Amino acid sequence: MLSTQYRLRLEAICKDIASGAEVSLEDMIWAEKLSKANTAARGMLNTARRMSTDPTDSFLNELNIGDPDSTHHRRGFGDPQDVVDWFHNERSDDWRQRDYNLFYIMAKINYVPLFSTPVIQTFLDENTDELKDIKDFSASNESAIVREDAYVDDSPVTPDGGGKRILEEYPRVRDILLDKFNFVCQNYLGFKKKKYIITTSWLTITRKGDLSQFHNHRNSFWSGVYYFQDEYPVGSSCIQFTNPVDCLSDILYHTYDIEHFTEYNSNCWEFSPEPKQLLFFPSYLMHRIMKNKSDKVRHSLAFNIVPIGRWGECDSSYDQAWTTPSYLESINE
Ligand SMILES: [Fe+2]
Repeated sequence: MLSTQYRLRLEAICKDIASGAEVSLEDMIWAEKLSKANTAARGMLNTARRMSTDPTDSFLNELNIGDPDSTHHRRGFGDPQDVVDWFHNERSDDWRQRDYNLFYIMAKINYVPLFSTPVIQTFLDENTDELKDIKDFSASNESAIVREDAYVDDSPVTPDGGGKRILEEYPRVRDILLDKFNFVCQNYLGFKKKKYIITTSWLTITRKGDLSQFHNHRNSFWSGVYYFQDEYPVGSSCIQFTNPVDCLSDILYHTYDIEHFTEYNSNCWEFSPEPKQLLFFPSYLMHRIMKNKSDKVRHSLAFNIVPIGRWGECDSSYDQAWTTPSYLESINE
């Protein structure tokens, strides 16, 4: 995932490439390095080059594949071994340098990210400045003993969320977050329309040098984190998620086995905090806050979400309607 800062710089460079304007050597080196490490960046750079050399080739431009420089293209295979070599040798992602027959072979290969873990990233347009006034913080290191000097404006920093429900004091922001989650559920995740509630919510504080251990959020279906500060300087802790596939260790790939890191081959994935960025993720997903290398204290809002009403089916269902006042009264006697 490209940070906003990187994306904006790369977009400006790509715009110049596409229009034929001069690009500085420093910018080109930076963009090349970034494209080697990031799939999205590589795609943007290729598209820009394609547009600069052949803006009319809309078919391949739409697909965003192939080397934009036609002088690099190779047509056809000499013999069957040539095809075998193509599949085995190191190669670029250039398809156009080969026969269109190969294109049709590859086009028949469908990559299905089966049972993937959805982490939803979005940015809020709404004003959430009221969160900046909160002084009730929970340490990012959720299971460690909070150091003795952990005070903010004479208020102690608590060692964890401690069942806090900060958002109940900020219902406008709470409902913005919940509305966003409902929209995602219905339009991206394919769930039936249901009602949800934000259960616990707390504000994290991560000072320079602080970090958290890996953890997940139990007794919850979904979790969210919102970055409400105006600024998260370079070095501010990323949030890092780890691959939840248990059997991954059986076929563990190391970094030296991987040409380009993508969401399909990575054991962990990081998101840099950015102003007004909102992330949703399944609560089972293990994650941690990485070490804060910035002098600026890093804050975020964390929260958990569960469905209300009926959930599940048959013997494995639960319905809040069962906990009627009369029932509660009867078991309290
Ligand atoms: Fe967490």
